[in-house]
Amino acid sequence: MEGLDEWRRKDWVTVRGVPMVCAFSPNWERIDEFQVREDDLVVATYPKSGTTWISEIVDVILADGDTEKSQRDAIHNKVPMLEFCAPGYAPPGTQQLEDLPSPRVIKTHLTVSLLPKSFWEKSCKVIYVARNPKDVAVSYYHFDLMNKLHPEPGPWEGYIEKFIRGAVAYGPWGAHVRDWWDLRNQLGILYLFYEDMIEDPKREIRKVVKFLGKDLTEDVLEKIVRHTSFQAMKQNPMTNYTTLSSTVMDHSVSPFMRKGISGDWKNHFTESQSRRFDEYYQREMAGSELSFRFQV
Ligand code: PPS
Repeated sequence: MEGLDEWRRKDWVTVRGVPMVCAFSPNWERIDEFQVREDDLVVATYPKSGTTWISEIVDVILADGDTEKSQRDAIHNKVPMLEFCAPGYAPPGTQQLEDLPSPRVIKTHLTVSLLPKSFWEKSCKVIYVARNPKDVAVSYYHFDLMNKLHPEPGPWEGYIEKFIRGAVAYGPWGAHVRDWWDLRNQLGILYLFYEDMIEDPKREIRKVVKFLGKDLTEDVLEKIVRHTSFQAMKQNPMTNYTTLSSTVMDHSVSPFMRKGISGDWKNHFTESQSRRFDEYYQREMAGSELSFRFQV
């Protein structure tokens, strides 16, 4: 596809110490200078933690459960990704967002350290979703296999080491989830866990409804649960990323909507890899109140 060759399978580029998708890294001023609006809703995550899921949930809640309305466009257009950029291929996320009327929903995987200056001046709402790192690593590995804007991940064995070192886009998982966790009281962030969403989606959707100041009936809640189930979102072209060119995401290598479960890591980690990862996890969480469930 025109304009894409330049960015295909390029290694990460470090932006202020954070490894970044090469295509996203030029003109970083666009992120620094991006103007957040008071009525924006920011959906922030470490990659592969449930971003698409929570984005669709939020979109349907804001539409009061009108699932027809939520079919108006693909998820990456309804909820543009702030840092997305692939010059010559598509408009940058900052441009897409500037063109959207308020209230906007903004997707980002940015570390707290890379947030735009205006984020600290405007008190917009933020929802953060975190997922246990073993399932994140498995999901990220498959995503790196199919996403041509990322470098080839190489063999799984070595990938685990890269993940532990934070040599993946957006850097170390531990610092990401901790830094956002530490901000949650200061900024009134709704901090959710993928595993809780798997365990009881209606309960977690209720939290989002309340956070957004909405009041929806039980029937509407049920409808949202059905519309945002893994099977429904996997079949829905507006949420499953199949509207993107296969030169960007090759779903024949691994579908974006891959498994949508908690505990798939057990199918990929050997016992010794799991032990090594457990030690890594203990180090990352030492001194933090944060904790994760590795299976629900
Ligand atoms: S990205 O590329 O970082 O924005 O990816 P992200 O959306 O954060 O994460 C993708 C993983 O989320 C799973 N997913 C879901 N799980 C359960 N229910 C629903 N509705 C759902 N939608 C997306 C998706 O399958 C990816 O996880 P894995 O483990 O790879 O299946």
